[in-house]
This record gives sequence, C-alpha cells and structure tokens, in this order.
Amino acid sequence: MAARDVSQPAGWADDLAMPVAADLNPDPDVLEIELEARIAEVEILPGVKTTAWTYNGSVPGPMIRAKVGDRVIVHFKNSLPEATTIHWHGLRVPNDMDGAPGVTQAPIEGNSSFRYEFELTDAGTYWYHPHTDSSLQVGRGLYGAFVVDDPADPKVFGDDLVMIMSDMGLDETGQLLPADSGGNFGDLFGREGGTLLVNGKVRPTLKVRSGKQQRWRIINATRARYYNLRLRNHRFMRLGGDNGLAARSEDIYNIIITPGERTDAVFTPADPPGTHNMLRWVPTERGYGSTFNRASEELLAIETVADPAVTPEPIPAELRSIERLDVTNATERTIDLTIAIKTKVEMGINGVPYWNAKPLEIDLGATEVWRIVNNTDFSHPFHLHGYFFQVLDDTRVLEWKDTVNVPTKSELRIAVRFDDRPGAWMYHCHILDHADVGMMGHLIVRDPNAPPLPALAPHAHEHAP
Ligand code: C2O
Ligand code: CU
Repeated sequence: MAARDVSQPAGWADDLAMPVAADLNPDPDVLEIELEARIAEVEILPGVKTTAWTYNGSVPGPMIRAKVGDRVIVHFKNSLPEATTIHWHGLRVPNDMDGAPGVTQAPIEGNSSFRYEFELTDAGTYWYHPHTDSSLQVGRGLYGAFVVDDPADPKVFGDDLVMIMSDMGLDETGQLLPADSGGNFGDLFGREGGTLLVNGKVRPTLKVRSGKQQRWRIINATRARYYNLRLRNHRFMRLGGDNGLAARSEDIYNIIITPGERTDAVFTPADPPGTHNMLRWVPTERGYGSTFNRASEELLAIETVADPAVTPEPIPAELRSIERLDVTNATERTIDLTIAIKTKVEMGINGVPYWNAKPLEIDLGATEVWRIVNNTDFSHPFHLHGYFFQVLDDTRVLEWKDTVNVPTKSELRIAVRFDDRPGAWMYHCHILDHADVGMMGHLIVRDPNAPPLPALAPHAHEHAP
C-alpha cells in the first residue's frame, strides 16, 4: 500500500502537542492573539512543579501558526518582574516590530503592554523569544514556535510535526538554576541546561507507521546547545531550514542545528512494525571541551506501530527556485567575532562589545558580502535580523538563512541584500550568553530619500555591564 492511502497512527503526535494561540479575529486572513509573559508553575519533571517564566503559562509558549500573507496582531502584556520585548526570529517584520530594546522599541516594562502587528511575507519555520536579558529570559522558559504555512507546499512531504528543542538547567529539587550559574565560565562556554526537552517534555513518544512520512520542523531554542540528531537505522531528507524550502532536497545522515537555526526534514520511518527506537542528541564539536567526556542523550522515543509497512512517496529533488545574489559590486566587510578575557569575559564584534559599538551604515538597496571571521576557541552561530542571507559556499545547497554556524578557527562569507525595511537591525551570536556579554552589533539601513531616523538609544540591551 502507498503511504498516501493511510493516515498516521491514532494519537501519533499527541505526546508532542503544544498549546496553540487562539485566534480572536474572525477574518481568515488575520491572526489576532493575546500573549502574556508571566511567571507560572510548569511540570517538566514528572510530579514536580518548576517555577518558570512563560508565555501564557506554558513552556514552550503557545505555537503561533498562520499562512503566508496573513496579518498577525499580538496583544502582548508583560507581567514579569522585569522589562522584556519579543523578537520574531527570522520573520521580516517592519523595523519597529522587531523587538530590539533601545534600538527598535522601548523595553516593555513590567505591568505594561505592547501591540505587535505585521504581515507574514515568508513561509517557513520561525520562533519568538525575548531580546532583553536574553540568556536569562529564554533560559527560564520564554520561547515559542511560529510557523508560516504555504498552502501550495506539496503534500508528499508528509504530515507536519513541529519540534522545538530546548534545555533547562534544573537543581535537585527541579527548580531553575541561577541565570549566572557557572559565572565567567558559563559566559564563555555558553549555558547548556542538563534537562533536554522536546516541546517542553522530557523524552516524549512519537508513534509512527513504517514507511509513512512526516515533515519535521525543528527549532533550536536553547541558549547554547548545538544539536546533532541521530536515529539508528535512518537517514533524513532535508528540505530546508530558516526560510523554508531550500533549492533542493538533500539526503542526510544526521541533523545538525545550532542555536537559533531551524531544519525542515522528511522523516521516513524505516523500522519494521513493532520496533522501539530512540532519536538521540549526540555531542557535536563547538569548540573548547564541548565534546569531551560527554555521552549521547535520549530525546524522543519512536515507536513503530504493528500495522504493515507502506511504500513512501518519492521526495522531489528540486524544491524551489532561488536566485543567487549578484555580488559583483557588493561592499565587503569583515565581521570578526572576538573574545577578550578581562576580569570578566567580554565578547565583541571586531573587538568592540555592543555597548560601545557604532552601527554599520548601509544604504537601502545595497548588496554586501560579509566575511565572518572566528579566531576564537568556540564556534558561534551568527544571526542577522531583518534580512535573509546566502552563504557563499558552493558545497552547500542554496538556501536563504538568518542564522549560520561559524565553526571555531574558521571563516565564512555571506551575501545580503538590504532590499527594504530601512531602520536599525541587530546582528549577534545566538549563543545568548555570548550576545549578552557583548558579541552583538547593529546596523542602520538608510533610505537616502527619507527623512532622518529618530535618535537611537546608546545600547541595545537593558543590562549592559
Ligand atoms: Cu533569535 Cu536577535 O535573535
Ligand atoms: Cu558565540
């Protein structure tokens, strides 16, 4: 029997279900939701109440899901004891909706509200998280999935399953470790939590039928953990990542996702009926000591039901036509990711931490090539707000990205066209501990025909040391 003629096993992904933000607006092309950041008790470990920072009371926050072209309105209320903002990671929103405190908006203080509103211009898998005191706030539980569907996507990719990967640092009583745990070393290495979660759960179970495909949309919402996902006896068909489909599909053995990135891949269960298998996190090199003496960990139990196997659908090789950016007249810049060990660890871009950095000045419409250099002992996932970029590397499948890993002692080049959306945009390492200690900058895209932008506050984050 062919895969298209059967459905997933009953309750296949129930264990991975996330709350979904309720739509308050009857217009089918408008998604209007309420989000509240507040402290709440959640159950992470069985029978234990963990006090976490949440959106609407859950970790992860509710999944936001709409289709490309829709308008989204978010009535956001901050009930936390400190200021926050929401950044819509990967979405090309108007500049004043981007959630960079002191740069695109004032921090949203406790007991106050902000209305976010924007149009969804691009299909793909995105996420949302605070941009204030990021390592602390994300580490305490503030993150959620944001999926933009393209109704024209081929059905052969299989049933959609969104998985948001995160980790939490918990003590023996199941409470969150202090945000500064590990001190300087925590800043330097990046804080990985010891409890691995998929959609907020420890080792949930997915039920599958042999041969029946699923489309996994995986988000890395951790502060610092790199994922290398492996499943015994399986390969995956990668469809794309940050900005939805890549130019073509790619047969891969393991799925590597660094903080901030997303991967979209078809999973074709290949175990015989009745098999138990385990999706594992496998240590992956991200610099000094990152794999030393570490074992793999169990992430997701995969149970193949007893029903007879079906024949999977072929996945097309060509997925999307993507034009290579023309870089012949591009301005070149070097973005050197730097670390200085003083009394405290201080990171920067070209040696300057963000609280001292001057913005890059870019003309609207310009194409630039950034050479991102990493001579440090750690790898850094580099993220740019507001624009997708292409990595200039012919060995990679062509795709649009917003976050790319720059391995330790290496460099890579990206091409960006600052085509629209004038304003101030951030770029930074997505190891949030690194961003918080300075590895971040911003740029200003100016429309030469527009009146000058309003004055900017001197720094981007609330808690500049
Ligand atoms: Cu996902 Cu500036 O961040
Ligand atoms: Cu970094």
